Amino acid sequence: MTHTFKLSGWLLTGVCAAALGASVANADPMPAETSLSGLEYELIGRDDIYDYRKLDSYAQAPFLDELVAAGKLPPVEERLPAEPLVFKTAAMSDGIGVYGGVFRHVIGGRPEGFNWLAGQHQGWGGINLAIQECLVRQGPRWQIKGEDQSGPLPNLAKSWEWNADMTELTMHLVEGIKWSDGDAFDTEDIAFWYDDNVQDENIASRISANSFGGGAKLEVIDAYTFKFVFPTAQSNTILEGLAYIQGCPGPSHVLKASHPKYDPSKSYDDYLNALPSDKVPVPVLGAWVPVEHRPDEIVIMRRNPYYWKVDEAGNQLPYINEMHFKLTTWDDRTTQAVAGTGDWSNMEDPGNFVEALKQSQDPAAPVSAKFGPRTLAWRVELNFAQNMAESDYDKELRGLFRELDFRKALSHAIDRDAVGQALARGPFAYAYMGGYPTGSPYYDADATNFTPYNADGAKALLAGLGLTDTDGNGILNLPGTGEDLVIDVTYKSQRNEDRKQVDAITSQLAEVGIRVLPKSIDETSFDPMRNSGDFSAILQRANFVLPTREACGNLPVSDICPAFHLTSAEGRDLLPFEGELANLVTEFNSTDDAAAQAATASKMQAILTDNLYNIGLVQVPAALLVNKRIKNAHPGTPVFMYEWAEDAVIRERLWVPADQQIDELLPGTVAEY
Ligand code: GLA
Repeated sequence: MTHTFKLSGWLLTGVCAAALGASVANADPMPAETSLSGLEYELIGRDDIYDYRKLDSYAQAPFLDELVAAGKLPPVEERLPAEPLVFKTAAMSDGIGVYGGVFRHVIGGRPEGFNWLAGQHQGWGGINLAIQECLVRQGPRWQIKGEDQSGPLPNLAKSWEWNADMTELTMHLVEGIKWSDGDAFDTEDIAFWYDDNVQDENIASRISANSFGGGAKLEVIDAYTFKFVFPTAQSNTILEGLAYIQGCPGPSHVLKASHPKYDPSKSYDDYLNALPSDKVPVPVLGAWVPVEHRPDEIVIMRRNPYYWKVDEAGNQLPYINEMHFKLTTWDDRTTQAVAGTGDWSNMEDPGNFVEALKQSQDPAAPVSAKFGPRTLAWRVELNFAQNMAESDYDKELRGLFRELDFRKALSHAIDRDAVGQALARGPFAYAYMGGYPTGSPYYDADATNFTPYNADGAKALLAGLGLTDTDGNGILNLPGTGEDLVIDVTYKSQRNEDRKQVDAITSQLAEVGIRVLPKSIDETSFDPMRNSGDFSAILQRANFVLPTREACGNLPVSDICPAFHLTSAEGRDLLPFEGELANLVTEFNSTDDAAAQAATASKMQAILTDNLYNIGLVQVPAALLVNKRIKNAHPGTPVFMYEWAEDAVIRERLWVPADQQIDELLPGTVAEY
């Protein structure tokens, strides 16, 4: 028997938390929410999507047969692992596919570089995710039924086991995976990733040094087996930190030559730039390999002839030969998807919603669109690192940010309904108070403290902090330095939805005497700026659906995060509740029990929203736009849940009927090294 669920009604763990009475009652309850979610899908078992096994025979894209015949590639069975990952036909919405064609992405980001081990991104929008493969996988979990939600799915690691006291996790890699240049993937790559990148404090890798399981040690057992030894007992939950973007090894056979440990004549800067964005191809484990990068124009990727996944008929994946990333803007991603010149958009700028939905309703439209739950939320991050402030002004400002009454005043000064209407007229936006958005499996409305719009209340709180307009220019003056209260708010210049919210809060905060100075920054330079902690406040999307996904971006889980509260040379000036948050992360990770985790997440939500750790703005649902010629794009795929839709949809399984395939730019070719 199959069940059909509406995603909006599926918040099992959130419901549990309320039923357990774990939540904290708050004075102001969240207003009623109207869901726009139209996703419908069947939930399936954990083992229904794929397994690992040897098949009787294998097939490959026909043009690869020719490359094998010409002696340019070994035969497909020699390129595949002994037991490849096998996608099951029953879980494919359109079944086994045909080879060929092009998948056209359009993105607003630009590749920073290809050394993802050192924290570089490749431009987002699914390009990082096409190149990197990680020990475990989170994206497809949206489709798995509640009773099977026992942590991430296998990927490069096909299995793992724990010792009796849960302090040692032994992981088994798929044996015989090769990088796209034919080099063996094995524990040498794992040791390089963990020991020489994650644990090296000179490298800004995506897991911070010693944060994984409180400082796990890695022990290599053989070419395909390794174990983590943890200082304290863990649970399966810790594995979520080994999914994208954290647990994704890089090509050690290329990178070692630029790492100072292996060549002392190299600097860490040399290492960071070892795989610059203009030098392709690079060896990858992903389904497609970047082979051409024309700056500000396009990244062209060709199928990886060493890809290690197949379908049940033995066809090596991916089905699609070529993938494009046109380098334009995020709004253009939606425009081109609607026009049919792009194949995909995570429609996340509410300003485009009405028009895009209208156009996609036409039965002749090239694209289909479905709204999911509200998982896109925006927040203002205030910099709490007072002991890192360089000027007296910044010291005083950050001191104010550390006062709960100041954060409350900001929250009361913000009219979230008006912010939402500035983004898009209509029912899309709903107030966001920080913490988990309503579409998160861990959202608990009862644990969420609502600080409603109340400009007079805001003014009273500001006066209580000694902030008055001493020079009569309409802007409050700081009691210490006497200067005007001006907050620089940094945002990504390419994101229209961010800019509109900066504009909205600029005028709203002016009403209570606070001047916002908007500062835009290019998205490619954004991460290094944020990681340096050199900002007053940032307005950006929160990406906070799970406590385990890039926890360091949201929570004080290590000395060097979150970026809005770094540790200075003088030490860590944590706010009292931040210590509690860090303990709750440990508590969450220490159990696999869904009800216990939901209860912990509710406690986090209460702390986050009672203390206004971030100033939440609004949250909206997103719609996924997929061109109708693309097969196996499951219509239930959420834009963002366990991971972004580019992962959740499983692109290696997508295919296009032969008569609808678009001509390849580089037919008949694969990356040459
Ligand atoms: C960007 C986009 C998202 C998604 C991710 C994938 O953040 O805004 O929609 O494509 O990249 O990494």
